[in-house]
Amino acid sequence: MRLFKSRRALGLDIGSSSVKLVELEASGQGYRLTRFGFSPLPPEAIVQGAFMNTAAISTAIREACDRSRLQARNVATSVSGHSVIVKKLTLPAQSPEELEATIHWEAEQHIPFDINEVNVDYQVIQESATDGQMDLILVAAKKELIDGYQGVICDAGLNLSVLDVDAFAIGNMYEHNYQPSSESTVALINIGASVVNISVMNGAVPVFTRDLTTGGNSYTESIQKDLNLSFEEAERIKLGDAPGDDSKGIVPREVEDCMRAVSEILLGEILRSIDFYRATASNRPIQRALLCGGASRSPGLERMLEEQAGFPVGIANPFERIDVSDGAADRETIVNIAPALSVAVGLAMRGVNES
Ligand SMILES: Nc1ncnc2c1ncn2[C@@H]1O[C@H](COP(=O)(O)OP(=O)(O)OP(=O)(O)O)[C@@H](O)[C@H]1O
Ligand SMILES: [Mg+2]
Repeated sequence: MRLFKSRRALGLDIGSSSVKLVELEASGQGYRLTRFGFSPLPPEAIVQGAFMNTAAISTAIREACDRSRLQARNVATSVSGHSVIVKKLTLPAQSPEELEATIHWEAEQHIPFDINEVNVDYQVIQESATDGQMDLILVAAKKELIDGYQGVICDAGLNLSVLDVDAFAIGNMYEHNYQPSSESTVALINIGASVVNISVMNGAVPVFTRDLTTGGNSYTESIQKDLNLSFEEAERIKLGDAPGDDSKGIVPREVEDCMRAVSEILLGEILRSIDFYRATASNRPIQRALLCGGASRSPGLERMLEEQAGFPVGIANPFERIDVSDGAADRETIVNIAPALSVAVGLAMRGVNES
């Protein structure tokens, strides 16, 4: 018999290369990892953020749940990409009721979509009594996109309870695990298969977010083209025969050169966003960056960014302050997959707090 309802929730990250699920339970002041699961998606299931094969996506979610024997049914998930707009606004200070009445008008001014085709949400991040202003983050996501998420989650037999934005989920993961002081300024860079989410955090507050449409697939596509292989073969060579991993055989020089060239292009794009952030004089200098996402493990990427950006760069551990002793997986498996679970961890935390 259970005297108290278990506060357990699922974070579901529907990425273009795989779906990832993390089940967390409230434990004291923090969280305990109870289980996690993932399931690959065929490359054509999600293209440029659009769900092209909803059956494949819901099947992958269901398979990951069954294989990992996930128990929670309430899901927190997140969206990103072209159909999502995140804007920081500064408005005259006003009451929540006034804001509720004006936010749609404000959204219309700042969102390049038909207001009837989007769902709008916002969060006040700072209210200043002295200058009569307030800062808030406005989020608009196309209804079509949200309906797609709702559909695949429902088809997989789960309930959608929280809908967030990838960059905020990572911010959440960061806040709990790294407990940043309000003086710190850190760039969080999630490098997935086809999207890179960048957000700059002042303490736990996101002050700049940007999504780039590039990621780990660029390496695979470049190897595919240069060595005349299929996408699957190129992906296997990228992961299995990664340069620097001597145990997996000799690495063809071509693969190494190709990977380095792609890293340069990818870093160029990331650095352009960082320059854009820096161009606003009022922004505080970035003190360090934390990388996450599967492709953050591309050989040499962390070191190359550190050299070019001029601040320290590390790989985020989304389980830094989460109890993983429950046998959800062995240590090595968790260490290998952890960076790719960052979004799902941040989402599961939201889910637990709202359950
Ligand atoms: N050890 C590794 N070295 C290099 N790349 C890796 C490694 N492990 C995973 N990747 C790459 O990371 C990418 C998958 O990362 P992730 O799971 O974060 O993406 P996703 O969430 O599915 O995609 P997106 O969010 O971009 O739609 C793939 O391109 C994969 O090849
Ligand atoms: Mg992703």
